[in-house]
Amino acid sequence: MSTLKYLSGFGSEFSSEDPRCPNSLPKGQNSPQKCPYGLYAEQLSGSAFTAPRCENRRSWLYRIRPSVGHKPFSPFPGVNVTHNWTETEPDPNQMRWNPFDLPKPGENVDFVSGLNTVAGAGDPKTKQGLAIHIYSANKSMKDRCLYNSDGDFLIVPQTGILKITTEFGKMQVAPNEICVIQQGMRFSVEIEEPSRGYILEVFGQHFTLPDLGPIGANGLANPRDFLTPVACYEDRNVAKYEVVAKYQGKLFVCEQDHSPFDVVAWHGNYVPYKYDLARFNVINSVSFDHCDPSIFTVLTCQSEKKGTAIADFVIFPPRWSVQEHTFRPPYYHRNCMSEFMGLIFGEYEAKRGSFRPGGATLHSIMTPHGPDFNCFEAASVEVLKPARVADGTQAFMFESCLGLAVTKWGAKTCQKLDPEYYQCWQGLKSHFTGPK
Ligand SMILES: [Fe+2]
Repeated sequence: MSTLKYLSGFGSEFSSEDPRCPNSLPKGQNSPQKCPYGLYAEQLSGSAFTAPRCENRRSWLYRIRPSVGHKPFSPFPGVNVTHNWTETEPDPNQMRWNPFDLPKPGENVDFVSGLNTVAGAGDPKTKQGLAIHIYSANKSMKDRCLYNSDGDFLIVPQTGILKITTEFGKMQVAPNEICVIQQGMRFSVEIEEPSRGYILEVFGQHFTLPDLGPIGANGLANPRDFLTPVACYEDRNVAKYEVVAKYQGKLFVCEQDHSPFDVVAWHGNYVPYKYDLARFNVINSVSFDHCDPSIFTVLTCQSEKKGTAIADFVIFPPRWSVQEHTFRPPYYHRNCMSEFMGLIFGEYEAKRGSFRPGGATLHSIMTPHGPDFNCFEAASVEVLKPARVADGTQAFMFESCLGLAVTKWGAKTCQKLDPEYYQCWQGLKSHFTGPK
């Protein structure tokens, strides 16, 4: 059980001091001529200076040395991170990936070198789009951190606990929890076993909580369940500390002579955070028919078009299913959005057995999808008593208004794409009774 402490809230104005240095936050101003304890003041801006107040995000960090004290960057080789969306031909087929590989024993792969881009769209230079990555690692990052100039990472561990050190403090993120590390925040990941998961990266906008409309002031993911680390600094000189930057779709590395996690105190509303998916307050139909899966949205990253997401993070959590005279599994569907799904554990209700934890599916724009033959036949005749759905299961979806391209790694290199996926719908037969 982790003993880490956290601050609770979403988008709040937080402040934190490492208890070893009381009163390390300057009083009444951000940038005094001399900061307490001889610290440097550094602002991290997560929005334009002039963004409306409700969207304005920034934090002030009080650190032993400013971030700028590093040597020049050079390319970081050997990683399958890309935003080249034309390296494979467009493919409208339904896609299903078997579980992505963990590193083999003897390979030494950390969180950074184990990043692989599977799909995406758009461009961080113009600040619109997203990328979906799979991480797969079997060793901790040692004297190495990562930051992302391009956008925010929403990290979904599937197997293995992530012990994440950030400039704001430490957080531990287990499967069935997620974390968001926003643009520019340096972090390092330790693991204790081979670990794998999914990353949704968004460019240009930050994740927000979805509006609740008639649901009211409470429900879905509640703000107080989002947890932000507390200040925890290390004053550590290192012969060669590597700072890896994701910049315009590529990784670069530079060296410095000290740990970047030397922030003694900080305040602001631009922070990393984690969330336990078990805290999600599920809202759904208690009469008949389905609410659309938007009812399961945990976090959203909105586009300029009202109500339309660059990416929604949606989960399908354990819940009761009580609808009367209703086909209860997900409906057959063609969508103007792209739907990338993953499975953390258990069995997704619409496709038992074939969609496995650590794997994925992609149903692209207007590509038909829905329950497989077995699911349809069973659900069409089941007795409609109140029933538990998805116990022991956590499936999720990254849904985007953009058309996603699959990378060469996703289509070929990973060797996990299942060419037989289409077969699961081939048995669907006509039940048409004909005109009376
Ligand atoms: Fe769908």
